[in-house]
Amino acid sequence: MRKKFVAGNWKMNMLGKEAGQLARGVAGGVASVTDEVDVVLAPPFTALRIVAEAIEGTGIRLGAQDVFWEERGPYTGEISPAMLVDAGCEWVIIGHSERRNVLHETDAMVRKKIDAALAEGLRVIVCVGETLEEKEGGETVTVVDGQVESALSGLEIRDPSRLVIAYEPIWAIGTGHNATPEEAEFVHATIREIAGKILGGVADRIRIVYGGSVTEDNITELLAEPDIDGALVGGASLRADAMTSIVLKAGE
Ligand code: 13P
Repeated sequence: MRKKFVAGNWKMNMLGKEAGQLARGVAGGVASVTDEVDVVLAPPFTALRIVAEAIEGTGIRLGAQDVFWEERGPYTGEISPAMLVDAGCEWVIIGHSERRNVLHETDAMVRKKIDAALAEGLRVIVCVGETLEEKEGGETVTVVDGQVESALSGLEIRDPSRLVIAYEPIWAIGTGHNATPEEAEFVHATIREIAGKILGGVADRIRIVYGGSVTEDNITELLAEPDIDGALVGGASLRADAMTSIVLKAGE
């Protein structure tokens, strides 16, 4: 049985004060289920400390939205894994499609970030997913398989709780058109199969979560699928009531 996992990716939203308020709102709402659901909030770097303070002593964990692979040095604007740990992070999102597409992050860069983050003891949420064009061209499985292979090949994962794979079809992100539970389940099962070939039996215990227009209205039917272990939530995670409701439903 895999423990459910729900993370809020706040993206480039929230100034300090509102970030603290949102984090406190979520923390207050989900306290009853944090034993059943891993809950992670991933604010922008500038709000990490404020959110860390707001969730201290609650079951909620702190995550960052990106990381760089070098330990230190002349990399203006970048943040190292140790800096994230220092700021209170336990988790980091790597390879989000917005970074791949807007910031031109490659599979190779994603892989270097995963290695560096795991080496520092961070837990990793690695994102994969296809564009609308790729989906319409029937390439979903090829694209996603390639991303998973590149992200995981040669990795040794002894503790499956340290890695989460997020399937986020790009056409479903921020569009209000989520993948149907059946569509998502098909891809999740494929991802688990590929992960199994690379990592062995431990893949059965790795959480594979869905992201893309997740709301309190569709979370329950998504989580009814056997290989959907949780959600990476964007827009809805910016509202304490919606995020709380999603987490509570995941805990049912
Ligand atoms: P939305 O939930 O806003 O579609 O965003 C999904 C996402 O990109 C989470 O990482």
